[in-house]
Amino acid sequence: MRVLVTGGSGFIGSHVIDKLGEAGHVARNFDIVESPHHAPGSVDTYLGDLADVAALTDALRDCDAVIHLAAVADVGQVVLDPVFNDTVNVRGTLNVLEAARAVGGVRVLYGSTIWVYHGLTGETVDETTPLTLPAHIYTASKLAGEMYCSSYAELFDVPYTILRFGIPYGPRARPAAVVPAFVRKALAGEPLTVAGAGEQCRRFVYVEDLADGIVAALDPAAVNDIFNLVGDVDTSILEIASVVREIVGDVDIVHTEARAGDFSGAEASGAKALAVLGWAPRTPFAEGVRRYIAWLKDAAGEARAPQLD
Ligand SMILES: NC(=O)c1ccc[n+]([C@@H]2O[C@H](COP(=O)([O-])OP(=O)(O)OC[C@H]3O[C@@H](n4cnc5c(N)ncnc54)[C@H](O)[C@@H]3O)[C@@H](O)[C@H]2O)c1
Repeated sequence: MRVLVTGGSGFIGSHVIDKLGEAGHVARNFDIVESPHHAPGSVDTYLGDLADVAALTDALRDCDAVIHLAAVADVGQVVLDPVFNDTVNVRGTLNVLEAARAVGGVRVLYGSTIWVYHGLTGETVDETTPLTLPAHIYTASKLAGEMYCSSYAELFDVPYTILRFGIPYGPRARPAAVVPAFVRKALAGEPLTVAGAGEQCRRFVYVEDLADGIVAALDPAAVNDIFNLVGDVDTSILEIASVVREIVGDVDIVHTEARAGDFSGAEASGAKALAVLGWAPRTPFAEGVRRYIAWLKDAAGEARAPQLD
């Protein structure tokens, strides 16, 4: 298949580009910037903005599917500029659907998030769990994208697959995320700060596993359906700090006041992705963190970053 990846220069998208190639598909990147993770010229790239439906339509022209990942993905940035977030995450998704409608016969695989389950109680939640109105603007924008996918299928026969990602970590992660932040501090010999007792859990998923799951969702069995792509164990913030300390070296773990706005939803089940797509994550958390640190050191070596020398 020829597959357009919006946001293919980003953290998750760049791995999806790699995994598409490994699975024998032809990947095309649509992003506002060149991929910093691929050699120049090695990926078919359309530089363009999600705001530009004509550019999206042009990039989609001979594709079988689009994996739509371009977004404002940093929740901190979203809060700073909700209107810009809406332009990129909501209108941008609408534009991808419009382009798919114009081209015809293209499935839209939409990168959503388990944040849609935020605030739900109960042991586990799955794709059939009714959702409540979102408490965060980021979640509102991602849910709006889900709703547009379902409406475009209903009204215009644009097929979709909604993929709700767990919290990804691994090589190429943005520095603001929790694992990179802990690793950076540990490498600098600074104490690791944990909010409260550090018992809040996150369902992490190693990014290369996640990218495999996204590619697996190209299977026709996933048409017009929703899948959680999540890790299979919850990891507490304290456990993350402990793993990082074990790998990097002996630094202190310091407890601070609990923070508002941390993800605290019920556990999202990945059973459906296993049953229908045959996908489950494979990489244990400590191994994923080791690979992230190895990548960071390699990248720092290439850039001669002084903080890791
Ligand atoms: N990282 C996470 O924790 C996480 C969790 C769940 C879901 N997601 C979703 O996964 C997707 C990818 O996230 P990520 O972490 O790889 O983000 P990222 O910021 O690393 O990558 C996003 C990419 O989109 C591109 N982009 C942004 N605005 C654009 C525009 N207007 N036009 C074209 N390209 C544009 C950026 O240049 C970047 O390369 C997002 O949709 C995000 O909401 C991310």
